[in-house]
Amino acid sequence: MAQPLGPDPTRHRTFLEYGRYVHLKLAGALVAASLLAYVLQRPSTGPYGGTWLGYTLGTLGALIVLLLLWLGVRKRQYAAGPGTLMGWLSAHVYLGVGLVVVATLHAGFQLGWNVHGLAYVLMLAVVGSGIYGVVAYVRLPRRITDNLGEDTLDTLMLKIADLDRDARRVALELPNEVNTLVLASSQATHVGGGLRQQLRMQHPDCPTTLALVQLMALGVRLQDDQSQAHRTLCELLVRKQALLTRARRDVAYRARMQLWLYLHVPLSIALLAALAAHILAVFFYW
Ligand code: HEM
Ligand code: HEM
Repeated sequence: MAQPLGPDPTRHRTFLEYGRYVHLKLAGALVAASLLAYVLQRPSTGPYGGTWLGYTLGTLGALIVLLLLWLGVRKRQYAAGPGTLMGWLSAHVYLGVGLVVVATLHAGFQLGWNVHGLAYVLMLAVVGSGIYGVVAYVRLPRRITDNLGEDTLDTLMLKIADLDRDARRVALELPNEVNTLVLASSQATHVGGGLRQQLRMQHPDCPTTLALVQLMALGVRLQDDQSQAHRTLCELLVRKQALLTRARRDVAYRARMQLWLYLHVPLSIALLAALAAHILAVFFYW
């Protein structure tokens, strides 16, 4: 069948493309207008946060921050408010990136190690973690489905348990030290765990890998009638290892999808506090 011309209507659209990039255009216009005003202004003091443009851009920046923080509230509202969640997220992302330009022009590039600079650095950290989040949201779902194929994490774990049972049965035909290895592989192998464990892709100290390495080494010392059982056991452990790699990868991808938010949200609360301190300090010393 002939492919239709133009964009494929069935292709999955991300929030980045929402409303034909309406929020990208809006944020771009805001950035362009700020840049133009910055270039055209001629304050006698030189550009800094206290000129009329400085105040305008600062206020604009603070309004953007409040709007972006609102996403946390909007996400949890079950009743439909104005706009879709996808639209809010697209606005969030583009305005968030534009905020860096607005805030930098607001400060007139006068950055120092003080409470104002703290607000600025926190803003960069929030935006940086947000960009990481977008990259994760765009790239990881595809990798998750590619890695799982027809499986889910649960079916992978069930298949691993089945292989463990078969391996223990086959090991009974082999010497005791093989049984010990296989038992360790089935009892001490873990998927997931603490934060670092979840994020790790490589597990060179995995008991199943260690069992397989030692089993291979043992192979040369076995009698002829045991070699078939040995080969079967090796195959079972190789299959288990492949399943383990996929299960651990799944855990790592999902952790990467969520963990950045544990930085993004507290940092954005800290930004709000630093911004309040910045504004108070500015008016206090006025
Ligand atoms: C995203 C929001 C904002 C950020 C990241 C930010 C950041 C900064 C930074 C880094 C400076 C330079 C400080 C220095 O000279 O060492 C500055 C200056 C200033 N900001 Fe903001 N600001 C924001 C919002 C605001 C708002 C809402 C106001 C007031 C309504 C404001 C008022 C000022 C003033 C008056 C100065 C000049 C202070 C001086 O140099 O004496 N800012 N800001
Ligand atoms: C000062 C700037 C920013 C602030 C204050 C801010 C704040 C927030 C808040 C409060 C949430 C809601 C999280 C929740 O309740 O679970 C959120 C979500 C999010 N932010 Fe930001 N953000 C900022 C900038 C950015 C930027 C620049 C990006 C990307 C380029 C970004 C990407 C995201 C994404 C993708 C989510 C959605 C996470 C989800 O709900 O699954 N943020 N942000």
